[in-house]
Parts: sequence; C-alpha cells; structure tokens
Amino acid sequence: MKKDSITIAYDVYEAHDAEFPAPYAELIEEAKAASRASYAPYSQFHVGAALRLANGVIMRGSNQENAVFPVTCCAERTALYAAGAQYPDVAVTDIAIAVWREKDGLFLSTPASPCGMCRQHLVETEQRHGQPIRVILYGTAETYVLASARHLLPLTFIGEEL
Ligand code: THU
Repeated sequence: MKKDSITIAYDVYEAHDAEFPAPYAELIEEAKAASRASYAPYSQFHVGAALRLANGVIMRGSNQENAVFPVTCCAERTALYAAGAQYPDVAVTDIAIAVWREKDGLFLSTPASPCGMCRQHLVETEQRHGQPIRVILYGTAETYVLASARHLLPLTFIGEEL
C-alpha cells in the first residue's frame, strides 16, 4: 500500500485585478445576464452559465426548476445541451458561471462550483471534441479559473488523457 494524492490547480483573481483577462470578464457578463432567465421559484438560486464555442458563438443557459425537483436542469447543462443540439461539431472552449441569490439580490461573493452531474457532462464534452474547457467561476470577491473541467472531476470515469 502507498498513499497518493491529487492536487487541483486553479487561478484566483480578486475583484478588480488588473491582470484579469478581458475575454473572461466578457464571458462572466454573459453568465450574469443568463442568470436573469433562470426559473428558480423553489431555491431562489439563479444560476447563469455562458459558453464560448470555438466558432466564437456564445451560448447562455440558466437553471430551470420544476415542482418535481429532480426534473430541474442546472444552468451548465442547459447551456451544454443547447450547444450540443445547435452546434454538435463545434468545441466548447470556456464556460463561465455566476449565481444571483434572490434572498439578498446579490451575486455570490465566493464562487459556486458545478454539481457532479454537470462536471460529468463537462468532462465528456471535452472528451468528445478533444478540447479542454476553461472553467471560470465568478464571485464578487474572488473568481476562480481552472484550465480544464477535468480538474473538477479527479479520477473521472473517462480514463483517457486529453
Ligand atoms: N444548480 C445549477 O444550476 N448548477 C449547479 O451546478 C448546481 C445547482 C441549480 C439547481 C437548482 O435550481 C438550484 O441551483 C439549487 O440547487
């Protein structure tokens, strides 16, 4: 027996960091706008996701809830399903996620991170197109940037390296 460990590398940007890349900021604005189309009467947790595709198209998604709770679809997969349906042959290069909380009318200060199902779908989208997806998790205090969705799902079911 030996011990092993996995380290997740990600960049942390504080608000108003002068080094924050403009394309990330642009995609975050799309994710924030996407959160306004969320249907979240049960959680009041309005999640917005924005994808950048390799052809330059930006796709928005938001969480769509249902009284039968498991029917709910997360923002990330709403966007990924739309991209898969409309641009099946185009890689996804980036995803930005922002959460607006109805309770206080603010975006979260510490970023929210995709759920396990969305991580699984993100990783398979990377695998499908042979293209890592940069994950940009927005928070008003700090924003995290991961170079690939694989970092969110260590020991993933899909074994092949990208
Ligand atoms: N939700 C997302 O949209 N994305 C996630 O990665 C986690 C959770 C949604 C589902 C539900 O509508 C609300 O957030 C509260 O869980």
